[in-house]
Amino acid sequence: MEHFIINGSKPLRGTVNISGAKNAAVAIIPAALLVDGVCIIENLPQIEDVASYVGVLRSMGAECKFLSDDTLQIDASNICTTRITPEQLKDMRASYYLIGALLGRFKKADVPMPGGCNFGVRPIDLHIKGFENLGAKVVQEHGKVTAEASNLVGTQIFLDVASVGATINIMMAAVYAEGTTTIENAAKEPHIVDCANFLNMCGAKIKGAGTDVIRITGVDKLEGKRYSIIPDQIEAGTYMIAAAITCGDVKVCNIIPKHMESLTAKLQEVGAELVVREDWIRVIAKKPLSAANVKTLYYPGFPTDLQPQMTTLLTQCEGVSYVNETVFDTRFQYVDQLTRLGAKITLEGRMAVVEGASRLTGAEVVATDLRAGAALMLAALAAEGTTKISNLYYIDRGYEKIVQKLSALGAEVRRVSSDDDLPMLMEA
Ligand code: UD1
Repeated sequence: MEHFIINGSKPLRGTVNISGAKNAAVAIIPAALLVDGVCIIENLPQIEDVASYVGVLRSMGAECKFLSDDTLQIDASNICTTRITPEQLKDMRASYYLIGALLGRFKKADVPMPGGCNFGVRPIDLHIKGFENLGAKVVQEHGKVTAEASNLVGTQIFLDVASVGATINIMMAAVYAEGTTTIENAAKEPHIVDCANFLNMCGAKIKGAGTDVIRITGVDKLEGKRYSIIPDQIEAGTYMIAAAITCGDVKVCNIIPKHMESLTAKLQEVGAELVVREDWIRVIAKKPLSAANVKTLYYPGFPTDLQPQMTTLLTQCEGVSYVNETVFDTRFQYVDQLTRLGAKITLEGRMAVVEGASRLTGAEVVATDLRAGAALMLAALAAEGTTKISNLYYIDRGYEKIVQKLSALGAEVRRVSSDDDLPMLMEA
């Protein structure tokens, strides 16, 4: 089993380059299944979720070839199956996009229920409602979803909740549907726009992505194209918070600052200094930082995927902060681990009350999901002494070369594969 060993209390300084967006990658890779031809996807992050998706596509008969570390060529001309087994999928949440992509192209799909990060009930009823409105018969039983249609016909679909996954999935299923499909109360996250841009480049007719009404007019054919995906908003935010929590000075490069506005505002509110330019943001922080309240919302609100990291920063801010999680019902599971490092947080339902600034000291902790893992890494960077983090699988799902990137900023972080380093914890 592998662990991260982090010696904290070192201000991070320097420059970090942000990779392509995980959530865009896991939508655009399956979207390439809609294309009967060769697509080249650039700026892909080198993370487990991408590797898993490439494995699934290959097992379905798609030819996938890495032209470089971050550029993937996908030829989905010869897909030989619309049926996916649980063994093919491993534990990918975003596997739900296979349903929309296969239904859209072949009018049938047989896909296991999605896995992925465990932070509360994550239904896919809205995805299914959308497929049914388009004319598919959908059955959910024996741990899988089967969808089939003789014909998909454009219609009006209102999402009860502005779900990211449902918006992209319905968009994919509707690309070849007869007539026009309208998604109302659509989600507006940057990766929805990115996926729509990719499909439009291939010849789809999708209008309004990035607003709450998306119109998809069915086309007969998509052509393979070259496309570069957007930078990762959440990875960028994690490094911006890393700069703040260690009272460092970090230039976060290759980003779209517009995507970072809700975090930029919060970091300024706690007292960090920010320099924002066309494709980078520099974060400079000095003690003391002050408390702030955070409420997670759909884009352009504060992203739930940065909530654990921001809550961790607030433990180092003077005063009481309130964090209200409105998107997922149990996304505070990491708090228990954070308190092991000395954080003072009490939970009241979907609200965390954070008392700062608390003294953090190294301990052994376990990542309970992807962003929870990131939060523990941030806490470890701020803590006195040595922290050991296990369950790295989650962190590897979404952060490219995190040890190298943090080390280049001056962090003392190592990946170890045994218990050899345990004595270090005693010394701390
Ligand atoms: C996506 C992101 C994830 C992020 C989340 C919210 C990907 C691969 N993952 O997840 O990182 O945390 O958006 O920004 O892009 N809901 C329903 N019924 C549905 C679908 C969703 O009730 O059919 C509810 C969920 O329970 C949740 C809310 O809608 O409360 C938002 O979920 P959704 O936007 O769908 O999240 P994901 O697409 O799973």
